[in-house]
Amino acid sequence: MERLDKFLCDSGVGTRSQVKLIIKAGRVTVDGVVQKDVGAKIDPLTQTVCLDAEQLTGAIRLVVMLNKPAGYITATEDKQDKTVMELLPKELQGRGLNPVGRLDKATEGLLLFTNDGELLHRLISPKKEVPKVYYARHEGTATDADVAAFAAGLTLADGTVCRGAKLQPLGPGESRITVCEGKYHQVRRMMASRHMPVTYLERQKEGNLSLGELPRGQIRLLTEEEIQALEEK
Ligand code: URA
Repeated sequence: MERLDKFLCDSGVGTRSQVKLIIKAGRVTVDGVVQKDVGAKIDPLTQTVCLDAEQLTGAIRLVVMLNKPAGYITATEDKQDKTVMELLPKELQGRGLNPVGRLDKATEGLLLFTNDGELLHRLISPKKEVPKVYYARHEGTATDADVAAFAAGLTLADGTVCRGAKLQPLGPGESRITVCEGKYHQVRRMMASRHMPVTYLERQKEGNLSLGELPRGQIRLLTEEEIQALEEK
């Protein structure tokens, strides 16, 4: 729980004394009800605070992990397809969350969201080289030559050069792939370039984070320790 005046200050509305006047003027609502008590306690995670009908997000930094099901595109809105934003629970909608990187419509697994623009850019920066681990089912079976070609860095059909990546054959038609970049359809295109088209793809890990027991279609908030660990990557 947090004081309403502090929440407004953290949202960049103004100084404590300016915020006090604004609240007393009846311009602030909590869950749709005007709140004139500057010291009222609010829960930024579950309550909606608006100034002149515009929602405030506060300074609370959110990082959310989703276990994405197939069939949703990674976008904030789309005319045709369902987007991953629809999988966020109501209390997390409109809090400035954006997906960190992207998973294809057919790909399942770990997708992060954050309302912290700086953290988002750091995590998707190619300089960061955050390793991402995928489980793939595919045609054919990976050989030692495929493992070596991944490690050396593949050149895709359109000339795109990929950095060295790790291919671990798990059995006939199954592999684990670790990449440190996020080019368009990267894993599918890398596997296709070795004549092993992917039939199923799941992201299982990103940096130190793994899906764990999170059920498909569900979300959880990262802890402050997990966020710190991401920052140190
Ligand atoms: N590589 C892909 O091909 N697709 C994804 O969704 C993620 C990585």
